[in-house]
Amino acid sequence: MDAIYAEHLFKTYDNVNYALSDLSLSIPQGTVFGFLGPNGAGKTTTVKILTGLLRQTSGECTVYGYSPSQNPCDVHRVSGVMTESAKMYGQLTGMENLVFFAQTIGMEPDACAQRAGELLKQLDLWDARDKKLSEYSTGMAQRLSLARALIHRPPVLFLDEPTSGLDPESAQSVNEMISSLAAVAGTTVFLCTHQLRYAQDICSSYGIIDSGKLLACGDFQTLCDGAGCHIKAGFRLAEGEQLEGYEQKDGWWQTELLKEEEMPLLLQKIVEDRHNVYEARLIRPTLEEVYFQYLEHQEATT
Ligand SMILES: Nc1ncnc2c1ncn2[C@@H]1O[C@H](COP(=O)(O)OP(=O)(O)OP(=O)(O)O)[C@@H](O)[C@H]1O
Ligand SMILES: [Mg+2]
Repeated sequence: MDAIYAEHLFKTYDNVNYALSDLSLSIPQGTVFGFLGPNGAGKTTTVKILTGLLRQTSGECTVYGYSPSQNPCDVHRVSGVMTESAKMYGQLTGMENLVFFAQTIGMEPDACAQRAGELLKQLDLWDARDKKLSEYSTGMAQRLSLARALIHRPPVLFLDEPTSGLDPESAQSVNEMISSLAAVAGTTVFLCTHQLRYAQDICSSYGIIDSGKLLACGDFQTLCDGAGCHIKAGFRLAEGEQLEGYEQKDGWWQTELLKEEEMPLLLQKIVEDRHNVYEARLIRPTLEEVYFQYLEHQEATT
């Protein structure tokens, strides 16, 4: 069974424009799925539908086999959500907020305090546990909201821009936490983010969405293949030297490869041709490059 499944989802807020248009997804358990797309693409709308905060106009979806519109309680039991709109109580302390939310989802009082303490420590909020939330900084509140999503150890986690307000150090520790949740606990993570470098480090598959339409879906290699982004060989030579048939870019002579095993022979040939090779390297496509490739192609065809 897929952890997250959606088939032909459509959503319109005004009966004119479609925030989601025929979105289908199937995400196996244990995946860290990076959901990428520009502002207004439909990411938050998708998260809200999958977590039962919003109803789709048409189409089907399930989380761990449960329908968010028909079995919202089951979906809440198996999932944790962190969105910008998931508000907590300003007048309660960090600890009180977590215990309160843990109790509302049916956790035992003792287990609540223990689990809340564990998360406050993990997310570097232990010293602020008795401070009111209204006195937290943006980044602290954001981390508390992640703790809230994790309190009942859900097998599926929906994170909508979890690191947007965080300093680099906190962002890194949140990303490490996300990776280890997937690796150790087998948690499925649905991660909406604009931070493509982080996404490339922690996600095992991706969806790229624009104007409500899914442009691409799959692991990094599948995305690269679909976008026509290939691995390249790059050589830096002594000044004035040229390589015929290669393109020069940023001081490197580059050529596309079908596979990286071609590299040793290329290098050998260049040396045999008596070039002075200062550096040789494989240049791999980045998620950023692949992402823009899809978006530009979409713009060109609409
Ligand atoms: N409550 C709402 N009422 C009307 N339109 C809405 C509402 N929420 C979102 N929309 C519209 O739906 C579309 C998708 O918005 P959504 O918030 O899902 O995008 P997003 O991908 O999360 O963007 P961002 O990266 O800015 O968070 C946008 O055109 C937006 O204007
Ligand atoms: Mg959003």
